[in-house]
Amino acid sequence: MKLNILSGIYLSEFQNGDEAALVEYLKVKKISYFTLGIPYPYKHKDALWWIKNKKQETKQQKQPVAFAIRQKNGELIGGIGFDGLKIGKSHKAALGYWLAKPYWGQGIMTACAKKLCGHAFKKFKVTKIIATCNPNNIGSERVLIKGGFRQEGYLKKDHIKNGKYRDSKLFALIRTSK
Ligand SMILES: CC(C)(COP(=O)(O)OP(=O)(O)OC[C@H]1O[C@@H](n2cnc3c(N)ncnc32)[C@H](O)[C@@H]1OP(=O)(O)O)[C@@H](O)C(=O)NCCC(=O)NCCS
Repeated sequence: MKLNILSGIYLSEFQNGDEAALVEYLKVKKISYFTLGIPYPYKHKDALWWIKNKKQETKQQKQPVAFAIRQKNGELIGGIGFDGLKIGKSHKAALGYWLAKPYWGQGIMTACAKKLCGHAFKKFKVTKIIATCNPNNIGSERVLIKGGFRQEGYLKKDHIKNGKYRDSKLFALIRTSK
């Protein structure tokens, strides 16, 4: 499956061979800091586990719910998806994403999030997409707002990261078409 985004950038399934790019780009501490499930330091075994897990998920759901963001030549430059989504079992999906640092600030994630949310409303039978982000993550908040999300709440001590409680802002996008 291929979802075209802009100027050669596209989304497709994670695949064997993505390990090197995952390890290279996820060595940036800020990416782990602002996300929930990405370990730091990120090792080859983490990449192998992720790819295997996502391939199994695609098989179970009969279509991918998590995607690699790729540039024209196919190289992985990020990830976006709905972790743990069981299609047809919930009306709600939780969006997560990260982008390799050299590509920040070019509008790539805003375009990816818009495209994937449209896809999810059509293909995953969801009516609500939620996303939580660190209150200091201005870039992620802008991605969500520009994608049509609205803030629904402020969650105190929402999760524990590196042994510390963290607050989150909760954003949501509701399907308007039937
Ligand atoms: C957050 C992240 C995905 C943004 O991706 P991106 O492709 O650089 O975002 P865009 O280029 O689409 O930018 C969207 C908006 O955010 C703004 N922005 C991006 N990074 C920013 C930053 N660090 N500080 C302030 N604003 C920022 C852009 O200027 C743009 O707003 P504008 O159009 O009003 O100027 C990327 O920085 C990233 O991967 N960060 C680490 C992981 C992470 O935070 N994941 C999200 C967890 S909730």
